[in-house]
Amino acid sequence: MAHLLHIDSSPRGDRSHSRRMTREFVAAWQQTHPNDTVTYRDVGRQPVPHVDEPWIAAAYTPDDQRTPELWEAIRVSDQLIDELIAADVLVVGVPMYNFSVPSTFKAYIDQIVRLGRTFAIDYENEADPYKPLLHGKKMFVITARGASGFGPGERYGHMNHQDPYLRVAFGFIGITDITFVHIENDEHSSESLAASIAAAQAQVAELVAA
Ligand SMILES: Cc1cc2nc3c(=O)[nH]c(=O)nc-3n(C[C@H](O)[C@H](O)[C@H](O)COP(=O)(O)O)c2cc1C
Repeated sequence: MAHLLHIDSSPRGDRSHSRRMTREFVAAWQQTHPNDTVTYRDVGRQPVPHVDEPWIAAAYTPDDQRTPELWEAIRVSDQLIDELIAADVLVVGVPMYNFSVPSTFKAYIDQIVRLGRTFAIDYENEADPYKPLLHGKKMFVITARGASGFGPGERYGHMNHQDPYLRVAFGFIGITDITFVHIENDEHSSESLAASIAAAQAQVAELVAA
């Protein structure tokens, strides 16, 4: 039995392609894995706080030296990290915003990439001091984009800071098994959008069956 963490980050509701596809993914997953459990987190419509100065002070103060105020400053971060650690599988919806991720999803990443909880620094090892602390998780990311051609070597490939960035940020904390499903052409013809949605649906069906 596995535990899923389902995260959406589009601010849109029913019009959101990423949100619709993560919902379809999780529904299909639950049909084939009826005993698996799911936690839902919506950072698009209920954003998490940005990192601020008390957060930084708390994150870099050892556990046994934190005041109640410092513990409070990282309470949400601890909650999000506990939620992440509890998950075996992540299903995440991420729109492309200005060639990267929405700021709400960046705020989420800033809350979960934390020294001592999701990564460590080994000062003895100058050549490779950063160590991920998470292991064995599988991540599926459904992206949604207005245009297309963001793959390596394609016309907008050099402008794509979305999936390459997500691989780096989640890889840094140990989540390296990441599969992407892209829905493209939201800003283009309804035929090209429909074809992209159909291809994404077929890919999701294959991934869930596998
Ligand atoms: C603020 C903003 C920035 C966007 N930037 C890009 C972009 O850089 N590249 C792109 O292809 N589409 C861009 N789009 C289009 C969205 O990626 C597209 O509408 C996508 O379907 C949004 O995800 P959603 O359907 O899950 O809400 C942008 C949309 C908004 C609102």
